[in-house]
Amino acid sequence: MSVTIKTAEELEYMREAGRILAIVHQTLGDALEEGMSTLEVDALGEEIIRSYGCEPSFLNYMGYPASVCVSINDEVVHGIPRADRIIEEGDIVSLDIGVIYKGYHSDAARTHGIGHITPEAQQLIDVTRESFFRGMDYAVAGGHLHDISRAIGDYATERGYGVVRDLVGHGIGTQLHEEPEVPNFRKFRRGIKLQPGMTLAVEPMINAGSPNVVWMEDEWTVVTEDESLSAHYENTIVITDGKPEILTLTESEKRLWK
Ligand code: MF3
Ligand code: CO
Repeated sequence: MSVTIKTAEELEYMREAGRILAIVHQTLGDALEEGMSTLEVDALGEEIIRSYGCEPSFLNYMGYPASVCVSINDEVVHGIPRADRIIEEGDIVSLDIGVIYKGYHSDAARTHGIGHITPEAQQLIDVTRESFFRGMDYAVAGGHLHDISRAIGDYATERGYGVVRDLVGHGIGTQLHEEPEVPNFRKFRRGIKLQPGMTLAVEPMINAGSPNVVWMEDEWTVVTEDESLSAHYENTIVITDGKPEILTLTESEKRLWK
């Protein structure tokens, strides 16, 4: 399948999938606290998703056994929820969630600090979020895909962070993963030309140390090779003739982006 351009009607479904996912993130993020198991986070996440008439898109995707990916500290992405994995004060916790509304997917991730976190951890979270928005300056029709990638990667790399290369963002729509791949680092070529109606999940994964990652024995959980902290920030966006439409921003984030 090649890169799809969504119709106006499809974009309405994508917007609703995004709007609901933003509420899920807000609600679940607010509920996160020390002492919770990652399995409890997943159960609450699934309940919120279903309460809005959506399906959790990660559940059973390629055999993934949960609705929410919960990745703590040196876990980069795809942490599998477990009853014996307890969130602690000082942790940074990445929540990656996808929902399906009337056949259309949205995908977004946020990293939260639990209670008091170190300034280094907070800075990692802030740089990861900001790198995404630097990418958005280039997410315009007529521009090229890898200009987004370069802006994200350069912002983080210049500040001494390790940009994960083994995992990338992606097109999104009736499938969770569609073409094209959206890297978070410089590519030699500029990539495809962006057109209005393209929908992308842009998701920088940034490490405090080395960019290298390894897979755990569960075959899902991705961790930093050097055990440094990692943060994740992802939104589902639509390319337009002007600024991109970011479908998965929470209400408070929308106020800052405008
Ligand atoms: N946001 C991740 C991605 O885009 C989540 C998918 S992982 C899985 O790849 F759990 F769904 F498998
Ligand atoms: Co994604």
